[in-house]
Amino acid sequence: EKGGYDHFMLKEIFEQPRSIADSMRGRVNSEEGTLQLGGLSDYMDKLAEAKRIIIVGCGTSWHAGLVAEYVFEELTRIPVEVEYASEFRYRNPIINEDDFVIAISQSGETADTLAAIQLAKSKGATIFGVCNVVGSSIARETHAGAYTHAGPEIGVASTKAFTAQVTVLTQMAIAIAHKRGSITEELYRQLLLDLSAIPQKVGQVLKAADRIKEIAYIFTYARNFIYLGRGLNFPVALEGALKLKEISYIHAEGYPAAEMKHGPIALIDEDMPVVFIATKDSSYEKIVSNIQEVKARKGRVIAIVTEGDELIPNMVDFVIEVPETHDILIPLLSSIPLQLLSYYVAVMRGRNVDQPRNLAKSVTVE
Ligand code: M6R
Repeated sequence: EKGGYDHFMLKEIFEQPRSIADSMRGRVNSEEGTLQLGGLSDYMDKLAEAKRIIIVGCGTSWHAGLVAEYVFEELTRIPVEVEYASEFRYRNPIINEDDFVIAISQSGETADTLAAIQLAKSKGATIFGVCNVVGSSIARETHAGAYTHAGPEIGVASTKAFTAQVTVLTQMAIAIAHKRGSITEELYRQLLLDLSAIPQKVGQVLKAADRIKEIAYIFTYARNFIYLGRGLNFPVALEGALKLKEISYIHAEGYPAAEMKHGPIALIDEDMPVVFIATKDSSYEKIVSNIQEVKARKGRVIAIVTEGDELIPNMVDFVIEVPETHDILIPLLSSIPLQLLSYYVAVMRGRNVDQPRNLAKSVTVE
């Protein structure tokens, strides 16, 4: 049932070209330039007029929400707030009847996310679900939604569910932006083309698995890790750090790269591995100087870069390349090497990667 892989997690990482494609199937048609999210069609007129979107989730799903915040705001110009469901439910949040809430949950059973939905619903907001399990509690409790079609995720560490969530949320943002007229027809068409090309590009990233395994071997004995990214790669950094923590039990922190000099830079020495997610996007030059700052303090840098980058490979210790894509789609590629890195480090440390200690696949108690 592991399909020849040593662990479900590895199988699920390698399934991503398909799970991402499945999460677009019947929705995106890049040749005709159409995008249909069946579950949301009744709400599209209202959504196009939305004043505010609130996204709730926990753990990895919350990270997908952070990616979505950047994508939604960039394309639709609708203000977005992203909250931990556990905080939202207990802090007497301001919820208006014209608010839209998007609840993200792989399992559809997370207690805090369910409670956050119930609270927002009681205040009259419209609630959408982005779930992976058909008929799950959250799917039933929401007014409408769009399923991720990642297939069953067995490994406790979420991998293919995360990229499927980002895929679905990105489609939502593109569809709303198109309806609102906040993006040009040309950009709309381009995004659909770029999105359709993602599964094949993920396949290319997966070809680096052996190289990532070699890098993981070198860092197996690390006690700490820092992950840094800017813009859309900031949530990717958080997600990379969470993956490493939960399955290898190595302490890891994710930070926006520019925040480093407000504290974490004090941690950098020759024993500190720093993973930079430094793809060629609008913050590229800024992140290059952040890398210089870490190297000047002898940190050991692993950089995720865009294919063909000639600058960063000469500055850092290890490089992993991802193909070029539109800026807003980068997390779908840049998150993959981090999944593999944490997987191989955990395996080399002899951890039970599919069922790490103290964790359950779905957290149905608060
Ligand atoms: O099923 P959900 O998406 O609601 O689960 C939320 C979190 O419990 C989950 O993402 C958790 O953080 C994963 N173990 C992360 O890999």
